[in-house]
Amino acid sequence: MNNQDVINEIRQKIDIVDLIGEYIPLIQKGKNFFGVCPFHNDTNPSMSVSREKQIYKCFSCGASGNAFNFLMDYEHIDFKEAVKILGEKSGVEVSGIRVNAKTTKYDRYYEMYDIANKFYQNNINTKEGNGAKKYLESRHIDDELIKEFGIGLSLSKNDSLINILFSKNYSMKEIEDLGLATNNHDIYMNRIMFPLHDINGRVVGFSGRIFDDSNANKYMNTKETVIFKKGECLYNYHIARDYCRKLKFVIIVEGFMDAIRLSQIGYKNVIALMGTAMTNEQMNLVKKLSNNIYLSLDGDDAGQQAILNIGEQLTKLNLNVRVIGLPSDKKEHDPDEFIIKYGKERFDGLLEAALGYSDFKINCLKRGVNFNSDVEMAKYVDSVVREVSTIKDEIRREIILKKLANDTNLSYNTLEKRLSEYLEFQQVIDKDEVVQKKNVSKKPMDKYTKASYVLIYSMLNDSWVIRKFEKENVHLITKELRYLASEICYYYRKYGNINMADFYTYLTDKEELKIIYNFIMSFEYDDEINVRAIDDYIAVIKEYNMRQEIKRLKELIKRENDPIAKAEIAERIRLLRIGE
Ligand code: UTP
Ligand code: MN
Repeated sequence: MNNQDVINEIRQKIDIVDLIGEYIPLIQKGKNFFGVCPFHNDTNPSMSVSREKQIYKCFSCGASGNAFNFLMDYEHIDFKEAVKILGEKSGVEVSGIRVNAKTTKYDRYYEMYDIANKFYQNNINTKEGNGAKKYLESRHIDDELIKEFGIGLSLSKNDSLINILFSKNYSMKEIEDLGLATNNHDIYMNRIMFPLHDINGRVVGFSGRIFDDSNANKYMNTKETVIFKKGECLYNYHIARDYCRKLKFVIIVEGFMDAIRLSQIGYKNVIALMGTAMTNEQMNLVKKLSNNIYLSLDGDDAGQQAILNIGEQLTKLNLNVRVIGLPSDKKEHDPDEFIIKYGKERFDGLLEAALGYSDFKINCLKRGVNFNSDVEMAKYVDSVVREVSTIKDEIRREIILKKLANDTNLSYNTLEKRLSEYLEFQQVIDKDEVVQKKNVSKKPMDKYTKASYVLIYSMLNDSWVIRKFEKENVHLITKELRYLASEICYYYRKYGNINMADFYTYLTDKEELKIIYNFIMSFEYDDEINVRAIDDYIAVIKEYNMRQEIKRLKELIKRENDPIAKAEIAERIRLLRIGE
């Protein structure tokens, strides 16, 4: 049996209603089961699960998939792990299957980074590495950590790495394109090298730290390349992934040194931003690790400001954010220095005492306020009450408000009145968001789009539609839809049958297709579709193709100078219009 067969067998042995029912309560209504969708913030049962089709979909947020997708998204695991878990559950042997053995057109680039990485790691253990080793020692990075994090050293000679790569037949152009050389010489010289990995654990870049008194930039990072996007990179992500799942939280720090130190004292579920900025891509990656986030950024102003920015955005993604309070004192303001100075237990204490994000924010609001000024005080009170209105827990709201009343000598009633105004406003916003979300996904479709979606859906529901689709050579209206349709036809020809649930699996590593497929699946369709209806939909698509062709020919006429050629094109348009 090949991989796809084994995976399909597992999926067939697992019943999706039973599986999802283990995580969220489901109630049967008619043929389908309904529950509250765990993938967005909701209290309504907008997720439907079909026993017949073995798929789920949420009509509010558009999440959809089969048993594997559900487990991956719910448990924050990758496909391979989902296969393993469901394999065990269903009693299907999975030890022999390889699901991630993909080769890509970038394999050559990964190889170059692999060579560079080994070279740097070797250097640090030679005589030339003595200085770097001494420096690392002074920073409490021992041999074990050097090995664990693959820390290396680039040499002072400006052609040591390029010569190795030349000898393995890589060209100067490739080496420069990949950010390992510039102006015909090594780009990294005499720096301590930290390898940077992509989410799958392949080395795709480096950050090199100076360790002598030179006044060059402290860290030099690999430039953006086809395999390295800084805004999508999180240090230690590939290692932290498994630990986050087990421990059910993730710690975010600023620097490599912080991540390495936390890992050393046992917090392997740590990732570093490599600075104080966090991109949307990075936030989405973090969301895949866990819903519980501890921000442990530096205690200096930049770090604290970053907590406010990042915390606000992560909270909007429905993540549960806590803030670890580090001293603002220069000497111990980052987790690395704090732990070196005070030890693991004190850091454990900080973690336990971490504030919820809104409490942290409320504390920040207080800073710098002149309580003798009526205007400043009123502004402060107002901003706190506004923040309180975003907190869902009523008891916590009351606690904070009581404390505020005490601190400011205002009456609790006055504050509560203001709060209820904000709460009303908040409700309006919440409602608006729901309406907007619905509008985004459910905006009225034109008939061509609708015909395309119904055809795709029907092909997965009834294989005669696939055969008809191929026979009539249907040309769907967008590139993505055509690609998706061709994959459906391919799958059907290869496996002899097709269904929606298995097709989800097939799309696992085809990101762009998965997005459009999910979108198509988020609408409701009629399952009992007949030949006449399909004919009609195909006719609609053909009409679209004809209109497009006429449009193209009209453009052609405009640009054509020869009157005879013009007349010929006009005749073609006429024939198209009368359907010949
Ligand atoms: P830090 O200055 O806090 O670095 O910057 P660090 O990790 O604590 O390193 P040490 O303790 O000074 O040796 C946080 C992160 O910002 C990025 C690096 O990824 C660093 O880990 N950074 C910093 C740069 O990319 N370039 C720089 O010049 C400085
Ligand atoms: Mn530091």
